[in-house]
This record gives sequence, structure tokens and C-alpha cells, in this order.
Amino acid sequence: MNQDELKRQAAQAALEYLPDSGVLGIGTGSTVNHFIDFLADVKNRFEGAVSSSEASTERLKAIGMQVFDLNAVGELEIYVDGADESNHSLHLIKGGGGALTREKIIAAASKKFVCIADESKLVHVMGKFPLPVEVIPMARSYVARELVKLGGTPVWRENFITDNGNIILDVQNLEIMEPVKLETQINQIAGVVTVGIFGHRPADVLILGSESGPKTIL
Ligand code: 5RP
Repeated sequence: MNQDELKRQAAQAALEYLPDSGVLGIGTGSTVNHFIDFLADVKNRFEGAVSSSEASTERLKAIGMQVFDLNAVGELEIYVDGADESNHSLHLIKGGGGALTREKIIAAASKKFVCIADESKLVHVMGKFPLPVEVIPMARSYVARELVKLGGTPVWRENFITDNGNIILDVQNLEIMEPVKLETQINQIAGVVTVGIFGHRPADVLILGSESGPKTIL
């Protein structure tokens, strides 16, 4: 199976975590796109969804799901999203698609975060995948200098603006031994909107597509 087929397998396995009704939290990326495709068959059970990006909103509307503003709904039962890396404690790196801030907000507002990925995303120490940091545009150089002090090599994601109108610095060469601590440190840099470490709010369930079928880590 190729990587995309493994993503699809994980997306399908996440269906069993869905509640009977209500509003779903939906993330962003190619794995989530598969999940949205599967959702088309069961969508009538749900009032609608809250979406973490304009891209997912479009896709949800295309299958006929209503998309709500997060402010219009209460706590969500479930949030389903992908990841760029996960460690065994289900701390994640997210933001490869640039939607990390909205993703982090919806994850925080949800009772259960089900993360779907192919098995290549599971690592012992995160950081091989460049860590995305969403930054207010005027703070780009300052934040980059601060990230160098933390041991990273920030690279400006050129020709990319987030749905919130900000830029992304992708930080290379980090070995993230203490995800929760590093998340706090980076979030304290003035001008940082969000860092793509999901340590304070890790996933609750990780479903990994694999050659031998979906594997679940709790
Ligand atoms: C987007 C994300 C995605 O969840 C992450 O990049 C994984 O993407 P994919 O499912 O395409 O591998 O964080 O901001």
C-alpha cells in the first residue's frame, strides 16, 4: 500500500469514534480529506461541522455538510485531524498545511481529539519534520532570531499566507526532547501566534494506517 492508501485506511477507521449526532470538529490535510469523503455517507446524522481551514470548509460544503463558526457551538464531542509527526505520548507536530492555529483552537475546544495518520508519522523524538510556527508578519525577523537562540534553523515558508493573514516559519534541526516545555517557550516569543507543537493538548487517540491494518494508540 502506498502512503495515501494508508492515510485512507486510518481515516476510515476513525469513523467508529464518531458520536451519534451533534457537531463535529474537522481538521485539515490529505488524511482529513479522505475522512471527509467517508463522512459523506453518514453526514445526515450530524448537524454539521466546525472546520479548521478554508480548504476543509469548501470540501465539507461540497459533501453537503453545514459548517458552523466555533463561536456558534458549545464544546465539541470530537475533533478529527491529521499530523506531521507524533511521539508515543501522542504529542504532535502539526501545521504542514499551515492551519495550525485554527487546528489548535478546535482541538482545545473538543472533548476527544482523534488523530489519523499513516504509520510513518510515528517517531520516538519529534523534530525531523520542520516545526511550523505561525508568526505576525512584522515580527518575522525578530521571531526567527529568537528561534535560532533555541537551537533551530527557521526557514520562511515563501509565497504562503495562513487563513489568518500571517506567515509561517518552518524550524529545521530541532530535536524536541521536551515538547510541552518547548511549546511554552516558543509561544512566549512576541509575535508568535502559535507553534505547531501539540503538547499541552495532545491527541487522545492516534490511528495509524499500516500494512497489517489500522493500529490504535491511546
Ligand atoms: C495541516 C496539518 C495536517 O494535519 C498535517 O500537515 C498532516 O497532513 P496530511 O494529512 O496531508 O499528511 O497539520 O496544518
